[in-house]
Amino acid sequence: MKKIGLLVSAFIITLWMPAISQAFVDDEACLMCHKYPKMGRVTDEGFQKSYYVMPEVFAKTVHRNVPCRDCHYFIKQLPHRPVDEGVRCDRACHSITNPSTGKPFSHAPIYNTFKKSVHGREKKETGLQDDKPYCIDCHTNPLYNPDEDVPPPRIIERCVVCHEDDKFANRWYNHTSRRIREVKRDSQEIVALCSRCHGNQEMLLRHKKAADEEGREIGEKYIIAAESYKKSFHGKVAKYGDKNVANCLDCHAAAENYYMSVHELLPSRDPQSPINAANRTKTCQKCHETADQSYAMIDPHPTFRKELNEFNYYSETVYNWVGNIALFGLMLMSLVETIGRKRDGVSWLLRRGTTWRGRGFRKNKR
Ligand code: HEC
Ligand code: HEC
Ligand code: HEC
Ligand code: HEC
Ligand code: HEC
Ligand code: HEC
Ligand code: HEC
Repeated sequence: MKKIGLLVSAFIITLWMPAISQAFVDDEACLMCHKYPKMGRVTDEGFQKSYYVMPEVFAKTVHRNVPCRDCHYFIKQLPHRPVDEGVRCDRACHSITNPSTGKPFSHAPIYNTFKKSVHGREKKETGLQDDKPYCIDCHTNPLYNPDEDVPPPRIIERCVVCHEDDKFANRWYNHTSRRIREVKRDSQEIVALCSRCHGNQEMLLRHKKAADEEGREIGEKYIIAAESYKKSFHGKVAKYGDKNVANCLDCHAAAENYYMSVHELLPSRDPQSPINAANRTKTCQKCHETADQSYAMIDPHPTFRKELNEFNYYSETVYNWVGNIALFGLMLMSLVETIGRKRDGVSWLLRRGTTWRGRGFRKNKR
């Protein structure tokens, strides 16, 4: 009853609001209601949800040619009912044909690969399975070329001399240029993406505990993966914006067919995994051409936690002490020196450059 009330009130509000111009064809009239910013509700769990779709933004996204109901297939009549399962990414589009096969387009090949990976899950899951990422945890609906408002006219002009229609040229420019220009996550974004979960201690411990109870194998580095990467040489250099240093996917995803292999992540115990002991040298060699087996044994996930690696823990502690003692010793020495010189009549001058000034009281005894 409450829901019908909401639907009716939302509908009434829509009639009062001024129309917003649309940048794409809305054949299914979804935007009649969904173009209004205030549209949304608080869920039973207390989350604020927005049901607002910004037409001008949607028109610049990679999915702008997919009709709303190709994804929101469960909506059969208007006004519609609340949904349960939501959008699944393995369904075929009714309206878009894959030009290379002539069949309805679908992400099923990626989905089938993903299902066999460490993260494989269904859209709707409960318990531990629900901690794994579904497609939309990693992919929202990205903009074609985030740095461009419109395709550069000088390129479109070059297409229309033959294609005669700038709508056609615009569309294909967007589709291909996004890939040719390698619009994708940089190293820092990949680290952030994986660390969102692999740096979440509560989630990690929950899984480690469950795996131990079920007698199921789980990687030795599982509970420290993100934290230890940040302490590694690669992690420290990546933090300062280096683009060549290894991020999570450079090691965990196979280099061949990168865009598929990022969906095929396997644990190190799987012989197919690029970080399996048998393949590790090859993986390091992608960037460290001279790497041999012993180089590949250098730990990319070094931990300094006492309970996991006592050697690292104590050597880090000793290094910290040595470093601090040296630093404070130097500061103390400078202080004593400054006081000593001041007593002799030589002191700091901070104007016109910093320098020592004054003639010492002390006679030169030589
Ligand atoms: C008559 C106005 C109206 C039209 C037209 C309309 N919607 Fe909605 N839609 C709503 C309202 C109101 C809600 C909020 C329902 C609720 O609170 O449960 C909603 C919610 C939704 C939700 C979220 C459902 C949930 O429970 O999470 C989706 C998805 C959605 N609409 C998609 C669409 C699509 C796709 C179309 C076009 C085929 C469409 N809507 C057309 C009014 C409309
Ligand atoms: C490429 C697939 C796709 C297309 C096309 C698409 N959506 Fe969605 N939409 C999603 C996904 C995925 C979600 C996240 C919720 C979920 O997983 O079910 C979502 C969420 C929503 C929500 C909020 C529901 C919620 O639970 O938070 C609304 C409202 C909505 N879409 C309306 C539309 C409208 C209107 C259009 C057409 C202009 C449209 N969508 C086109 C995939 C799509
Ligand atoms: C753990 C995160 C993650 C999950 C889960 C995931 N992907 Fe990806 N996906 C990536 C990364 C990383 C890339 C490489 C491009 C980039 O960095 O943005 C990518 C690339 C893609 C591309 C190529 C995009 C392009 O413009 O060339 C498609 C299509 C895609 N994913 C679809 C899916 C589908 C469908 C699912 C669910 C079955 C899925 N992804 C699940 C991380 C993920
Ligand atoms: C010199 C003329 C010429 C120019 C300039 C040109 N095209 Fe084409 N384009 C063609 C011809 C002819 C075909 C069909 C030929 C074929 O199938 O080999 C074609 C095919 C295409 C197709 C495949 C269409 C389909 O449905 O199979 C796309 C996409 C395309 N062009 C995009 C572009 C874009 C984007 C530009 C600008 C960057 C561009 N073209 C510039 C002549 C041109
Ligand atoms: C939404 C949360 C989430 C994100 C994002 C995520 N993961 Fe995971 N990952 C998990 C969960 C949950 C498991 C399963 C643990 C289990 O088996 O209980 C897992 C398992 C793994 C495993 C196998 C562990 C083992 O020993 O079985 C690897 C390797 C892994 N993830 C790497 C990555 C990488 C690399 C990224 C970034 C591209 C990433 N994950 C992003 C949640 C996530
Ligand atoms: C230089 C290569 C490299 C980089 C970069 C790297 N890893 Fe690893 N990762 C490995 C290797 C090798 C192992 C297996 C270590 C072992 O158990 O001895 C591993 C193990 C893991 C494990 C435990 C599961 C398993 O398969 O054994 C997870 C989870 C993981 N890494 C996630 C990540 C995440 C998240 C990042 C980025 C923040 C990352 N890794 C960056 C090489 C790398
Ligand atoms: C994507 C490329 C890439 C991959 C894959 C990669 N590294 Fe690196 N690694 C780098 C870069 C770049 C540096 C920084 C080199 C420099 O500036 O001296 C680096 C630095 C290092 C260093 C610091 C000292 C040195 O030798 O320069 C070690 C140790 C290291 N990597 C080990 C590994 C191991 C072990 C693997 C395989 C498990 C691996 N790396 C895989 C790119 C990579």
